Amino acid sequence: MIIPVRLKDRSYPIVLERGALLCAREWMDLDRKALVVTDEGVPKSYAEAIANQCKAPLCFTVPQGEGSKSLDTLRLLLTAMLEHDFSRKDCVVAVGGGVVSDLSGFAASCYMRGIDFYTVPTTVLAAVDASVGGKTAVNLCGVKNVVGAFRQPKAVLIDPDTFLTLPRRQVANGLSEAVKMALTSDRDLFSRFETRDPFTDLDEIVARSVRIKRGVVEQDETERNLRRVLNFGHTIGHGIESAGKGRYHGECVAIGMLPMCSEPVKNRLVPVLEKLGLPTRCDLDPAAGYAFLQHDKKAAQGSVSIVRVEEVGSFVLETVPVESLRARIESVTGREEA
Ligand code: GLY
Repeated sequence: MIIPVRLKDRSYPIVLERGALLCAREWMDLDRKALVVTDEGVPKSYAEAIANQCKAPLCFTVPQGEGSKSLDTLRLLLTAMLEHDFSRKDCVVAVGGGVVSDLSGFAASCYMRGIDFYTVPTTVLAAVDASVGGKTAVNLCGVKNVVGAFRQPKAVLIDPDTFLTLPRRQVANGLSEAVKMALTSDRDLFSRFETRDPFTDLDEIVARSVRIKRGVVEQDETERNLRRVLNFGHTIGHGIESAGKGRYHGECVAIGMLPMCSEPVKNRLVPVLEKLGLPTRCDLDPAAGYAFLQHDKKAAQGSVSIVRVEEVGSFVLETVPVESLRARIESVTGREEA
């Protein structure tokens, strides 16, 4: 299945096919130098499958985890390209999850003022979100994605066979982002979550989620307005994530969505999250979550942009005072009374 992203001269295909990894050359121009970036948690055979199709591959493996989204790792990638005489005509291929995609995309966006890059997401999270839409970035001083650029890939290659090696918790981590898109934009997809086993319905869920994201990005590539809908659940979710405690991104987003829903929507969302094994609250000190929001760089002049869902399949974008989120944070944090 090909899902085209139509952005004038920045248009590209999202290829969603089992076995696509072995046919990368059909979608990527690999007859040039290619920096193939992956991380230590990704099965080696995935990056090798891509490298074997490149005329002149240079493989680079970064440590697994958010720590690799740093200026230090970026510098290593840029230096590797420079030392191997990469020109403006060469390319970068990201094989892995969101960290690899964000980091490699940003390296490609600034090397020689921008060279081609391709994403090969091998996690559900990266397939439905990070690898599509051209947001690239690294973190700085503990602030997520604060140094980055919009740069669209030349193609996205999703091979659902790569999801087979993911632990169930990792799949649920990605499905949380798909639930996010269903809640705001696709009533039928949300019903699928309710009535089927999402773990055996991955191809359809990923395809629908990618289509939703594609539609949003086509209308608002650089997040002037509509694209903010993709941040549903992330405002409070980021506060929870920043407290650490080993929670995955999608788990924090799951908790962060609940306070942004009306009661009837919440009553439908909780069973879906439970079915996926995702958390519905956390024992974070509510004051810590609130403090994070106050210091969040996005909370300019004490206001923050939020997304609310009153009815499944629709959303409301609002800018509200940070103070008004206190009760919402308290509703999903702190110890529950016995
Ligand atoms: N991950 C949110 C976005 O791409 O806008």
